[in-house]
Amino acid sequence: MTTNLFQPFRLNDSLELQNRILMAPLTRCMADDDLVPTQQMVDYYAKRAETGLIISEATIIRPDAQGYPNTPGIFTQAQIQGWRNVTDAVHQAGGKIFLQLWHTGRVAHTYFFGGEHVLAPSARQLEGNLSRTRELTYQMPKPVSKDEIAQLVLDYTKAAENAIEAGFDGVELHGANGYLIDQFLHHDSNVRDDEYGGSPENMARFPLQVVDAVIAAIGQDRTALRVSPAAYFNIASDPRDKAVFEYLLPELNKRNLAYLHLGLFDDSMSFDDLGGNATDFVRKHYTKTLVGVGGYSAETGSDAITKDRFDLLAIGRPFIANPDYISKVKQGIEVTPYSEEMLATLN
Ligand SMILES: Cc1cc2nc3c(=O)[nH]c(=O)nc-3n(C[C@H](O)[C@H](O)[C@H](O)COP(=O)(O)O)c2cc1C
Repeated sequence: MTTNLFQPFRLNDSLELQNRILMAPLTRCMADDDLVPTQQMVDYYAKRAETGLIISEATIIRPDAQGYPNTPGIFTQAQIQGWRNVTDAVHQAGGKIFLQLWHTGRVAHTYFFGGEHVLAPSARQLEGNLSRTRELTYQMPKPVSKDEIAQLVLDYTKAAENAIEAGFDGVELHGANGYLIDQFLHHDSNVRDDEYGGSPENMARFPLQVVDAVIAAIGQDRTALRVSPAAYFNIASDPRDKAVFEYLLPELNKRNLAYLHLGLFDDSMSFDDLGGNATDFVRKHYTKTLVGVGGYSAETGSDAITKDRFDLLAIGRPFIANPDYISKVKQGIEVTPYSEEMLATLN
């Protein structure tokens, strides 16, 4: 019933996946205090190497990108070496792994990096407390200057080069879930009146500059992107956002990315501002390899691929509960259900 998941899939001339299941990026907050991946993380990823492609937990490109405790980085030699241990172990076990590159923008907090302010497209503050450090509240961000935008593009590029040095098969730019790149793409967080705001083309400018710079550095075959047209997390939705993605998605078609990945928790949801389902919206405007995600089992995901809603299936929480998810599904063994308490230990 799920046999289509277990066919190899050629992403491009450089990469063939052993099956169509991706491990979705899952933040676990288990790096050491220098944000270096640990031996426990090496073991965690290596156990999941039967997956067609592992996408690492979101990994910060520089200190002021941090909004959660103990999230790994990719900007020091020690972090690069720590990740090298992970990629070596995954490769030895026959797997492939991309690094997800992250800047949290206004979801960051100076508590983590000791700076003066957090950066975002505009001075539009999130309400409430940080999700995994509840005693801290979000801060009013400083709008990034054009010089700071140029520096951010350089820092994403350097982080991508560091990822290749660390042995990753590629990178996924985290353009989803209300973090920095996504903040440029939504009217709730971007009220700029320069060439980075005010129109779909301007709002897509920074995301496309990052994509293009990373492609120039490491190649289109090794560059992927995650997007959330439906603002549903860390950001409020606005009916004008749809037009931004109607501009962005055809632009991305021209880039020949390794894949485009939906940023979603539940793909059964419908979003009024998009006129329905987010995956169907993206499929309509984006014609290349698409990764679907959000509340899927192997059976429902396999069915969605059969119906051509997307090409590859990303699985998140079930991988936390089942290190051996792939062999269980292949053999028809029932998977262990996920529960939030499982986040406390890295298994
Ligand atoms: C604990 C946890 C951590 C997550 N961390 C990330 C992350 O680092 N980057 C990201 O893009 N999405 C992250 N997500 C979203 C997942 O990648 C995925 O989209 C979501 O869990 C829905 O898929 P699922 O129903 O198969 O779990 C996280 C989700 C959970 C539950």
